[in-house]
Amino acid sequence: MKLIILAGGGGTRLFPLSRTCLPKQFLKLGDSDSLLTQTVKRFLPLLKPADIVVVTNKEYIHHVKTELAACGASGAHILLEPVARNTAPAIALAAKFCEAELGTAAGEVLFVTPADHIIQPVDIFIKNIRQAVDLAAQEKVVTLGIKPDKPETGYGYIQTGGAFGLGYRVDSFREKPDKATAESYLAAGNYYWNSGMFAFTAGCLMEELCEHAPEIYQLMSAPLPEVLDHFADMPGISIDYAVAEKSARVVMAPLTAYWNDIGSWDAIYDVLEKDHSGNALKGDCLPIDCANTLMLGKSRLIAGIGLEDVLVVETDDVIVVAKRGESQKVKDVVTELRERG
Ligand code: GDD
Ligand code: MG
Repeated sequence: MKLIILAGGGGTRLFPLSRTCLPKQFLKLGDSDSLLTQTVKRFLPLLKPADIVVVTNKEYIHHVKTELAACGASGAHILLEPVARNTAPAIALAAKFCEAELGTAAGEVLFVTPADHIIQPVDIFIKNIRQAVDLAAQEKVVTLGIKPDKPETGYGYIQTGGAFGLGYRVDSFREKPDKATAESYLAAGNYYWNSGMFAFTAGCLMEELCEHAPEIYQLMSAPLPEVLDHFADMPGISIDYAVAEKSARVVMAPLTAYWNDIGSWDAIYDVLEKDHSGNALKGDCLPIDCANTLMLGKSRLIAGIGLEDVLVVETDDVIVVAKRGESQKVKDVVTELRERG
């Protein structure tokens, strides 16, 4: 098995802490390990560093090298995309690299994971992975799915059918539905969230790309240096839209470990330790009569008085103050700032 770690996303949902220069996968959130390091460590009981390929771009290479060294995985391969073209081209490129440079055979399983999630405990996760790998070896496109508890619109939804081995058949896959659709999925009871982790054999991936994303597939038949030269011509599309929504051979392995893609400040509040009043405090914070707040300071003191359900994130040049439950709208701040130039 080869592990492909996707670590090239720009990540703006945790603005102002995560930015183009320091996306979410490199953040250390109340833990001494960055999310990328946590991702690598989670898989080390299953494979050697030499079986890991981290796909990123040249802006992040320094961070990736540092993180890999920090967890004893300097032997992992770092594959640099010339430009970011979203996850389908990134995964195809990694598969090409495995075939050309690591001698990966068509029947070998590729396990794909994002680099910016919290998952625990590791022993349950390893069991979940083993099930997924077992299904992938049967030439299936395997997703790892989580039982949903809210109508989240930032995820893909997997509609399960009957049992398939230790997993489920998948009747349909829908990437990022609107709120009303997500609510109907939640009510139906047989939908799972897509974790963003996939497993397939190298051969199965190429067949699926050939059928559903021929532009990507065609370039992949060239030698690796040529693929890199023409990578910018790839369509920018995620694996969810390119393959998971269209493939007829998707099956799901349940992800039963705790999973959080910490896509917002609210999600970070949920995972951090709280004081007896429910305040999650990092950095120099002085809460007086505050309850259920998140205060994340970098260099200045945050003094809060009488605050309830408020999120405060302080960095060198930006302070974000938001109501708990509204932090998804941080992306509107980023959009507005980009428009301002
Ligand atoms: N190398 C590389 N190149 N990595 C990338 C690129 C790219 O162009 N674009 C994104 N990534 C990385 C991100 O850093 C992240 O680790 C992972 O790929 C997934 O990308 P996201 O941008 O975070 O995707 P998402 O969160 O909107 O949606 C995906 O994850 C959800 C769960 O968190 C989908 O798979 C959804 O279906 C899923 O529910
Ligand atoms: Mg994500």
